[in-house]
Amino acid sequence: METGSRISGFYQRTMEERRGELARRTGLDAAEVAALTGGLSQEIADKMIENVVGLYALPLAVGLNVRINDNDVIVPMVVEEPSVVAAMSNAARMVREGGGFRGEADPPITTAQIQLWDVKDGAAAKAKITASAEELLAAANAAFPDIVKFGGGAREIESFDRGEGLFVVHLHVDCRDAMGANMVNTMAESISSRVAEIAGGRPGLRILTNLAERRCVRVRCAAPAEMLATPELSGAEVRDRIVEASIFAERDPYRATTHNKGIMNGIDPVVIATGNDWRAVEAGAHAYAARSGVYRPLATWRANASGALEGKIELPMALGIVGGTIRVHPGAKAALKLVGVKTASELAMVAAAAGLASNLAALRALATEGIQRGHMALHARSVAATAGAVGAEVAAVADVIVAARSITLEAAKDALKKLRG
Ligand code: MEV
Repeated sequence: METGSRISGFYQRTMEERRGELARRTGLDAAEVAALTGGLSQEIADKMIENVVGLYALPLAVGLNVRINDNDVIVPMVVEEPSVVAAMSNAARMVREGGGFRGEADPPITTAQIQLWDVKDGAAAKAKITASAEELLAAANAAFPDIVKFGGGAREIESFDRGEGLFVVHLHVDCRDAMGANMVNTMAESISSRVAEIAGGRPGLRILTNLAERRCVRVRCAAPAEMLATPELSGAEVRDRIVEASIFAERDPYRATTHNKGIMNGIDPVVIATGNDWRAVEAGAHAYAARSGVYRPLATWRANASGALEGKIELPMALGIVGGTIRVHPGAKAALKLVGVKTASELAMVAAAAGLASNLAALRALATEGIQRGHMALHARSVAATAGAVGAEVAAVADVIVAARSITLEAAKDALKKLRG
């Protein structure tokens, strides 16, 4: 079986050819290939949420050229914004020349909070909770015994005196390959009365925190400077401009916000395609970015000693590859097979790598020709295709209308006629 995430000319093929190529490379069977085109039936949708009246579709694409920890991965991406997939794939190609991405993830710990009120002596409550940790962890595990069978389970209890009678207990649970929201919420609900009894308070909310700071993922890469060159600028010049763009985001929260939006351009599509909770990932990412009290970039860039552009990203990434939506959504299942990860931690690395690559692509464009030219070039391709261009004609017609600065259907039809004639 031909494998790998580097597939030249993929964008020039028909959708059916692309699906065939993916099936050959990843071993998707006919049903899974079918799930890529119509991932969800109305019957399943009706069981997923309430008051369903239909389905709402978004494009499912694949990001290419990604290599993480010496393995190629084809990255499923669901997104409505043009250029995101092409930009991510293009940056991943540059990174690939520097050996690809290196990633690591924390153990899959999701944390639940138990809120208590009317705790009179916070220090004493803290000591009692610490002394009862073993009992509470055992009770939490008894509420969700399956996770223990899979090698996970409740691992640690922490507590915080938040003042004026408000006392908060954190239950840290190793959720293995699940995102873990249901699991930790169940555990928290089951032990909250006992926690209140021990601490001497009244139980309040019992719910996970999306600031999953114990479930962070870290990905690094080094793109050789020459890969960054544009027709006008040397690779070293582009590298230095990207470093300046990074410093801009590091010192200015307004820029950091948009910088991080560009990162989420790569992350959210993977989270959505694989049936995960993107609101949870978004909430965690931005809270993490602001953890110092100032909103900061999740990824930063510097030149390294050998002149390459080094980037690194770190953020919480609570993803699952079992349970939840994944159990019922055939499109999410097919996307997970496509990406080929064996653990939730591996999926977290793929999402973070896609985020880092998207950030690189955006900064390179912004620091050189600006973002619009690339957008226009892609737009021109879709106009060329609408005008009837097929295969290699698409790029040829797009080149003509971009050069003429006339990206219209008329101009594309004209160019196609000339090309064929
Ligand atoms: C647009 O979707 C994302 C960018 O604004 C990101 C950035 O400015 O870094 C281009």
